[in-house]
Amino acid sequence: MAAKRGVRGLLRGGFGRNRPSEPQGVRATGRLNGRVIAVAAQKGGVGKTTTTVNLACALARAPHDLKVLLVDIDPQGHVASSLRDSVKPGRVSLTDILLADRPRDLMEAVVPSAIENLSTTPPDKQLNETDALLASRVGREYILQSAMVNARSHFDVILVDCPPNLGNLTLNALVAADEVLVPCDMSILAFEGVADLLATIETVNVRLRQQLDVLGILRTRVDRRTTQINEAIEQALEFNYGDLLLDTEIPINSALAKAQAAGLSIFQYQPRARGARAYSALAAEAAERLGLSAAPAVANR
Ligand SMILES: Nc1ncnc2c1ncn2[C@@H]1O[C@H](COP(=O)(O)OP(=O)(O)OP(=O)(O)O)[C@@H](O)[C@H]1O
Ligand SMILES: [Mg+2]
Repeated sequence: MAAKRGVRGLLRGGFGRNRPSEPQGVRATGRLNGRVIAVAAQKGGVGKTTTTVNLACALARAPHDLKVLLVDIDPQGHVASSLRDSVKPGRVSLTDILLADRPRDLMEAVVPSAIENLSTTPPDKQLNETDALLASRVGREYILQSAMVNARSHFDVILVDCPPNLGNLTLNALVAADEVLVPCDMSILAFEGVADLLATIETVNVRLRQQLDVLGILRTRVDRRTTQINEAIEQALEFNYGDLLLDTEIPINSALAKAQAAGLSIFQYQPRARGARAYSALAAEAAERLGLSAAPAVANR
């Protein structure tokens, strides 16, 4: 209950207020004012990467046509494998940025993909070790936030795919972010993980003086055939989190898993699949919550 009250309180203030000041050495050279969204959940396998990748592709496409950066801060490197047909290798890794002695610009690691409007950071298997090494660094929670100053000025939206834990990498993503998107599949363990994550967000806001908001809790892998379990989790989510729940839900859809295995977004693999319609709807809902809805965003550019 404490997490529920705390996060609701944070939401009252509106979205996207924690603009970091420019650290020495990293300057904003673009004209955009990007919003950073961490896609995080403590439990593994709830659809974080599927959501990050397909939401990014949906926001990069019409009608939104936003400039989108996908940052893969998960050592598993699943963003690159999920889009392996479109992403290109890079020379600078996230580890290079996070463990550097001086502030480095995340843009050094950014590589344009073959998908229009979409760029990515390269997969980095070394991140496991980096998570541990960060533990001894002064100001370790703020490194990604500082490194992102310039990237914010080159992209409309930056989506960060987090690992399935609340370690130093996830902490860096939360501190760098304006909003958190929380995927939750319809299992009791995922439901319990939501409370832990919301408590962590509250801790980040209080102890690290951030103003992180919850973009929403996203129901994923929803299987309407397993009505009893679905209903119990659904009611618990409604009761505990009410308006934090997004209207859009992602159905279980084998095309989403097949697209990931083929290294393609759902829009490249099967654009008429239920999963594609669901991620298009999520992009519209997220863009509206972020104040980046298609019409004004296009008009402003
Ligand atoms: N809506 C869905 N319908 C069917 N399969 C799905 C759906 N969402 C995800 N999957 C499949 O479930 C598996 C886990 O998904 P995903 O990799 O997105 O989870 P994750 O939360 O990123 O996992 P991890 O915690 O390991 O990073 C993958 O095989 C993926 O293809
Ligand atoms: Mg993942």
